[in-house]
Amino acid sequence: MRSKLRGKDFITLRDWTKEEIDTLLEVSFELKEKFLKGEPTPYLPYKTIFLMFFEQSTRTRNSMEAGIAQLGGHANYLDTSTMQISHGEVAKDTASVLSRYGHAIACRNCFWGIGNKYLNNMAKHSRVPIMSLQDDLYHPMQGIADLMTIIEKKKETKNLKVSIIWAYATSHKKPISVPLTQCLLFPRYGMDVTLAYPEGFEMPDWVIEEAKKNAEENGGSFRITHDMEEAYRDADVVIPKNWGSWSGKKGDVEISQFKDWKCTEEIMKLAKKDVIYMHALPADRGNEVDDSVIDGPNSVIYDEAENRLHTAKAVMWLTMG
Ligand code: CP
Repeated sequence: MRSKLRGKDFITLRDWTKEEIDTLLEVSFELKEKFLKGEPTPYLPYKTIFLMFFEQSTRTRNSMEAGIAQLGGHANYLDTSTMQISHGEVAKDTASVLSRYGHAIACRNCFWGIGNKYLNNMAKHSRVPIMSLQDDLYHPMQGIADLMTIIEKKKETKNLKVSIIWAYATSHKKPISVPLTQCLLFPRYGMDVTLAYPEGFEMPDWVIEEAKKNAEENGGSFRITHDMEEAYRDADVVIPKNWGSWSGKKGDVEISQFKDWKCTEEIMKLAKKDVIYMHALPADRGNEVDDSVIDGPNSVIYDEAENRLHTAKAVMWLTMG
């Protein structure tokens, strides 16, 4: 299986079979163990990956750069505003050229209605694997790290109550790609997923249909509620996070009316005692979540962020190796 993944794009986990994702997880755990023991992992010597960013990043950029260095390779960080893209160079030309210089191209492009198309366009013309560092629809690097974290903390994924909960924020209009990826991925692992949000922050219909189908096929469930308390009640895993309204059906939703969609110590009491609190970060502290929760005993945010390194290394090794 491992060698079969060489050359495979990593744009969405929808294109990866369960067996392939299992392999990715297995390799991530192996790499984590070696990292913690201080064992070198020079599996990609002299290989170059290009990291193109249309937006800011802390975790994604640094897990990829540190990861490729730990694998013996090299990353070229590319702020796209300094590339000829800003003068109109198209995805085909950028991907065709960069793919002749190195061994993979990774890109973050979250522009709504553009990002995923841009990545697929690059994939069409690249000789080397294309990886998503987040687009308008998917964040597979985050999704796989989240799955690894849940497995690490809970051991068994079957029928875990996992609640993906909209949260109030003022920092910026966050993409839907993190909750969308989780909605599609977690039911494939038999989890009982609850998606909770105030009206106006729905996921696209096709996502809901596919999430339900994934749940049916894998012995889990997928449901939607607009009742925040219902999502927290008896939950094993809570993931309260802001996302923007994308549908345009209601124009720009006035979100100040939803300030009470916040993860507080009080509401966490509804969840199981050993519930884990997750957040992809960056978090809007004080709005999405109280410090006492995000810094509290149930929070696993730094382990989750750390797993971005191990999973990123697994994706690079398997697809570039
Ligand atoms: N979670 C995540 O993708 O973080 P960055 O935006 O910092 O990369």
